[in-house]
Amino acid sequence: MRDEFKNECTIDFSKPEMASELEKAIAKVEESFGSRYPIVIAGDHILLDDYIKSINPSDTHEVVGYVSKGTRELADRAVMAGKLSFKYWGSLSGTERARYLYSLSSVFRKRRVELVATMMIEGGKTWPEADGEVVEAIDFLEYYAREAERMDAGEDLVRLPDEDNEMIYIPLGVGLAIPPWNFSLSILTGTTIGPVAAGNTVILKPASATPVIGAKFMEMVEEAGFPDGVINFLPGSGSEIGDYLVSHPDIHFIAFTGSMEVGIHIYQEAAKVRPGQAHLKKTVIEMGGKDAIIVDSSADLKKAAEGIVASAFGFQGQKCSACSRAIILEDIYDDMVERIVQLTSKLEVGDPRKLTVDMGPVIDDAAYKKIMSYIEIGKNEGRLIYGGDRARDNGYFIMPTVFKDVAPDARIAQEEIFGPVLSIIRAKDFTDALNIANNTVYGLTGSVYSKTREHLERARKEFNVGNLYFNRGCTGALVGVHPFGGFKLSGTDAKTGSHDYLKYFMQPKVISERF
Ligand code: SER
Repeated sequence: MRDEFKNECTIDFSKPEMASELEKAIAKVEESFGSRYPIVIAGDHILLDDYIKSINPSDTHEVVGYVSKGTRELADRAVMAGKLSFKYWGSLSGTERARYLYSLSSVFRKRRVELVATMMIEGGKTWPEADGEVVEAIDFLEYYAREAERMDAGEDLVRLPDEDNEMIYIPLGVGLAIPPWNFSLSILTGTTIGPVAAGNTVILKPASATPVIGAKFMEMVEEAGFPDGVINFLPGSGSEIGDYLVSHPDIHFIAFTGSMEVGIHIYQEAAKVRPGQAHLKKTVIEMGGKDAIIVDSSADLKKAAEGIVASAFGFQGQKCSACSRAIILEDIYDDMVERIVQLTSKLEVGDPRKLTVDMGPVIDDAAYKKIMSYIEIGKNEGRLIYGGDRARDNGYFIMPTVFKDVAPDARIAQEEIFGPVLSIIRAKDFTDALNIANNTVYGLTGSVYSKTREHLERARKEFNVGNLYFNRGCTGALVGVHPFGGFKLSGTDAKTGSHDYLKYFMQPKVISERF
């Protein structure tokens, strides 16, 4: 029997010996700037002249790498490769497949510092955020491997006196993983490896803003010895190959994480049965959030302010789980506003290669413009009390930005900005706070800071989100500890890092034998 799953430990890169390791790894990534990375289909490495250029968002002159860009013809080849390799991969037991996942997690550990450095540069992540991603990716590998082993046992059914019954879970076929750029390694690993652990084969289309870390994932898959064609790496644009693959009749499932607009589009397209298709596609769709933290007067206000600031501005607010609304009860409103601004003003914004930096850049020009335009909207909807400007030149740096006195139905309190913008909203009482919190189309994360048992019990029942936290921030879900996924238009709530996850990519089969 395998030992129990335990979460991987983080590394403290602020310690001098670890900081020096990280600096060496950063230098190595810098030496590799401008490298070319291939598409990988059935083990074939395909380098094309058409590529995605990966830019360092902290310094837009730096090209992290050129990653070959897939075409529809290559998408067809990848589907064929997935179908062929499924014959073998789908026939293995979960225990046999798990060994490949353990092998991959060992490669991850060996390349860990390089992975952290790559995400710091390509994604603009600070080291704690980047290291958190490697931890989460390793956790997905270790957790889903154990799940694959566990599922070999099938499920107990009632046995009749003259009849044996069993229910087994079998994989679906070849599917598509479309992870986001904000968790360019961890969600990429989870959405690819979950289905693969379940016995499927996958075409992985990495996010176009962060394709180099995707290419490194693919290198590690090969290093770990996965059979060719089980995971096929096909970067490219959504409109050219994403849509094409979503509607492909041979694709059996889609695991997507990204914006609400794209998620809904994929969900609708996947529902259509095309000529030549003899199955319904399964979809696991994780979209955005407009997540709220409620604070009442019984709370530890210092901890509440720390939780709000960390959840709002960690990775520049570019998390579906980020706190974008702080809902504060009237009697402590002014006090909390002051505490939040005070803590926010201490955040250092800059290139994450300087290891003391708290906030890096936002991901690209489009994100920069969108966030700045919401800040302009916010100036008419609330009172700007901190930030609101570009933070530095040459890079997509935005100051952490705080608005107070925002109305619950203001655009900045309703629409996902996906950047370092926090709206503070005043609530009359706890009932009002819960109503405000629930009044969006999203339902991903939420948090309550309170020591009032009655408030916490009410929130348990009435705060309508997939991940609800008390007396802590609303980001940073751990695999196996906080299975993650949202309600309403936040997604299909296929909890990642839970006992349920692999089943979304499988079908149960019941076999009954009469004696
Ligand atoms: N799982 C992440 C978090 O909890 C978001 O994707 O922050």
